[in-house]
Amino acid sequence: MVKNRIYIIAGVSGVGKTTIGKGLAEILDAQFLDADDFHPISNIDKMKQGKSLVDQDRWPWLEILNKKLIQESDNGNITVLACSALKESYRQILNKDLPSKISWIFLHGDYALIYERMQAREHFMPPELLQAQFSDLELPAYGIKVDVVLSPQEIINKIIRQMNKKADIGLIGLGVMGKSLSRNIANNGYNINVYNRHVDGTEVDVAKKFVTAHKELKNSEAFDELNAFVQSLSVPRKVFLMVNAGQAVDSVINDLLLHLDEGDIIIDGGNSHYKDTQRRFNELQSKGIHYIGSGVSGGEEGALKGPSIMPGGSDIGYNEVSELLTAIAAKDTYGNACCTYIGKGGSGHFVKMVHNGIEYAEMQLIAETYGILRFSMSKSQEEIANIFHNWSKTDSASYLLEISADILRKKEGEKYLIDIILDRAGNKGTGSWTTIAACELGTAIPTITAALFARYQSSYYDDRQEAAEIYNGDHSPINLDINDELRIAYQQARIINHHQGMHLIKSASQAYDWNINMKELARIWTNGCIIRSKFMQEMTNSIDDSKSILSNENLNRIILDHPKVLNKVVATLSQTHISAPCFSSALAYFNGYKEKRSLANIIQAQRDYFGAHTYERVDAPRGEKFHTEWS
Ligand code: 6PG
Repeated sequence: MVKNRIYIIAGVSGVGKTTIGKGLAEILDAQFLDADDFHPISNIDKMKQGKSLVDQDRWPWLEILNKKLIQESDNGNITVLACSALKESYRQILNKDLPSKISWIFLHGDYALIYERMQAREHFMPPELLQAQFSDLELPAYGIKVDVVLSPQEIINKIIRQMNKKADIGLIGLGVMGKSLSRNIANNGYNINVYNRHVDGTEVDVAKKFVTAHKELKNSEAFDELNAFVQSLSVPRKVFLMVNAGQAVDSVINDLLLHLDEGDIIIDGGNSHYKDTQRRFNELQSKGIHYIGSGVSGGEEGALKGPSIMPGGSDIGYNEVSELLTAIAAKDTYGNACCTYIGKGGSGHFVKMVHNGIEYAEMQLIAETYGILRFSMSKSQEEIANIFHNWSKTDSASYLLEISADILRKKEGEKYLIDIILDRAGNKGTGSWTTIAACELGTAIPTITAALFARYQSSYYDDRQEAAEIYNGDHSPINLDINDELRIAYQQARIINHHQGMHLIKSASQAYDWNINMKELARIWTNGCIIRSKFMQEMTNSIDDSKSILSNENLNRIILDHPKVLNKVVATLSQTHISAPCFSSALAYFNGYKEKRSLANIIQAQRDYFGAHTYERVDAPRGEKFHTEWS
């Protein structure tokens, strides 16, 4: 039993608070307090006269009780208090400066039954006032609730049983994603307790308000005190972290370590950097804590209804949580969960990071296509929305294309919202991490990097305004067949983008010995995640570890069947002023990818000329180095 804990037995007059409270105090080895003993004499006189108390009578009484509870808690006493606490506003006063210290137990019952019991007892509160008590009663979603039709002993047993009941999992961090995931977990029948830190003025009772607002969380307890939260979880404890990537994750882990035991499991479901995850995995392994770094994709709606989940790290930990994670994940077309164990260490967060890199380029390709249609082919927002909608019925179908059609139709008054949104793209880092990881692994992902750099470049807002004046940034008209050329080129560039992302994952898997199953990875990206698409489904059916996407005849068909289309679209774009870095870099990558003899011989010769860096020869074994005295 936690020292200095407070149990408040609440409910209308006559419901049995004193009897149950005393019985409970005995079992808990706690002191019993009756709130009635703290009423100012004026309140007691009023009730004796058959008059109901009003809020003004209750405020001073509740303040007195709150001070008493703080004092008892500070002295380390366990207290059971019988107090009607009918309204939420009353409970808030009792709760003041006692965050998470109070467990609420609500006794409730039928009016007739309680009225009958009141008639049989001696108390300053006459039975006639019961109706007013029922009208004031606001039963909250939180707390333990017991119907008083049971005998006192049965009621006490039931309370104890519920108090001992531990949650299946706990979640820390009630931002948008944390809230949606908690509700998803509860909707799948798991008992979840939630924690959110308390920050004066900005984060006050976040967990409590959240639990109260959602009926699926009726069995959940809300905490802003970490030890009580950890103790409320069944062993081995499973703690889902949904806090901002970076320092916050380390800080929460450090705090948690004071309360966790060996064998407990932490799942980081945020967008953490994979190297941080790798480091945390190693540090926690030495302490006997199973650490899982898990990508979770799908945004707010996905987290609520079923995200794609990419757990990596401790396989022992994963075995403990796999049932829950697969239950809350999206389902693929065969009904299997879009969740699979990715591999050791930071692999789960690595694949999520690359997922976001692919996402950046998918988004940029749609933006570039929009730009071509809007500014160089003079299509209206509605027309472009219709084009995207029609493309969604082809093999170009994707979640991002669908939402883009919706976005283009959205109006604010007479204006299209898209015309009001400032043209400066934000980012939270995963795109740049993908580019840095690719550089570290010596892997080329120019289409992903082009999308990232396009976001960066968009932020030079003032420079762009000035340059538009100097260079005349007007767009010239071009002519392309929308379905037979533009869509085909769009689809080809998408395939090249996916090829680069998957190639990067393969390189990392080999370098870090993660043994990632690419088919499984594509499968869990067919639903729930942001880059879900028809092409991802095709990848699931056809991706093959021995072949890259661009060499796979089931996946590169549209490139083979239309060999000159991407070239034509990029060439045509050069006649207008549309900046289309993803289309262009996809073509440049593709041209470089299929070159039998690249231009790198010139580079090697130059390196050797000025720096004696040596070169290999086509007529000598690989690895043998040569140097020439060039001058
Ligand atoms: C997802 C999203 C999600 C988020 C990214 C992108 O898979 O659910 O990728 O993780 O949208 O963090 O964020 P930025 O565009 O801000 O970098």
